[in-house]
Amino acid sequence: MARLANKVVIVTGGARGLGGGAVDALCAEGAKVVIADVLDKAGEARAAQQIAAGHSAHYVHLDVREADGWAALIDDTLYRWGRIDCLVNNAGINIPIDIEEATVDQFRAILDVNLIGAFLGTKAVLPALRRSGGGSIINVASNSTQMVLPTTSLYGASKAALANLTKTTAVHCALRGDKIRVNSIHPGAHLTEMLENPQVQAMPQVRALVNAIPMGRMGLPAEFGKLVTFLASDDASYMTAAELFTDGGLTVVSFADPSRA
Ligand SMILES: NC(=O)c1ccc[n+]([C@@H]2O[C@H](COP(=O)([O-])OP(=O)(O)OC[C@H]3O[C@@H](n4cnc5c(N)ncnc54)[C@H](O)[C@@H]3O)[C@@H](O)[C@H]2O)c1
Repeated sequence: MARLANKVVIVTGGARGLGGGAVDALCAEGAKVVIADVLDKAGEARAAQQIAAGHSAHYVHLDVREADGWAALIDDTLYRWGRIDCLVNNAGINIPIDIEEATVDQFRAILDVNLIGAFLGTKAVLPALRRSGGGSIINVASNSTQMVLPTTSLYGASKAALANLTKTTAVHCALRGDKIRVNSIHPGAHLTEMLENPQVQAMPQVRALVNAIPMGRMGLPAEFGKLVTFLASDDASYMTAAELFTDGGLTVVSFADPSRA
């Protein structure tokens, strides 16, 4: 039997990239998946692809910054499938910029999606998870919570705050006796659609990044998806408030191996 049979999962930013990998992996494990995104064409196409493969998927337009949109999404999902078991707060944006160049509007824009979006989603979904008898919230942070560059100023701060919000939510739920687990995933560099272009892969900064990864390659959306299915499943039944790094070993190395440069 598929690990997530009859489980209903919402994935924000599920139209493409890592969220798309999560959607594909969750469907393969038997979950009914709601793809929530602002990229309507890509989201519809991904849902159609899963349905054609015999899985249950549905696309809903959601801007994670809007509380009303979240309320409508939860209502729509409960009406359609009767329960919700898991929320993957994956939608995220990045503005690589150092602190002196960055504007407060850019900082607010990043916080609005990466932090407030997950906050709104968590608040909206908790009552539904409780009614299902428990569930899992998975917040997609980044290895930039530990590994910083001058240009991760805004992005890293948003993801570090998200990791902390994950833990307080996890403890809140556990102490209430809710069977709701809340964890964060911290991806390192992954080969999503935007990096698949050979010209982008040949760029010196991209090559240098790959060379710095102990495993010598970027992660794949499908690998990220498997981690999401694990945290969504009962296999992770004793795991809450955890930070899972999926980064090929990058975050813990202090120096790139010069022989591989
Ligand atoms: N790809 C990586 O190497 C990497 C590394 C570390 C962390 N991450 C994190 O993983 C997550 C997915 O990143 P990705 O690389 O797949 O990026 P991506 O840009 O390919 O996908 C992000 C998705 O989020 C959606 N989105 C953006 N703003 C939204 C909003 N306001 N409302 C709803 N949806 C919105 C986009 O439309 C898109 O489909 C992000 O949270 C990102 O910060 C990615």
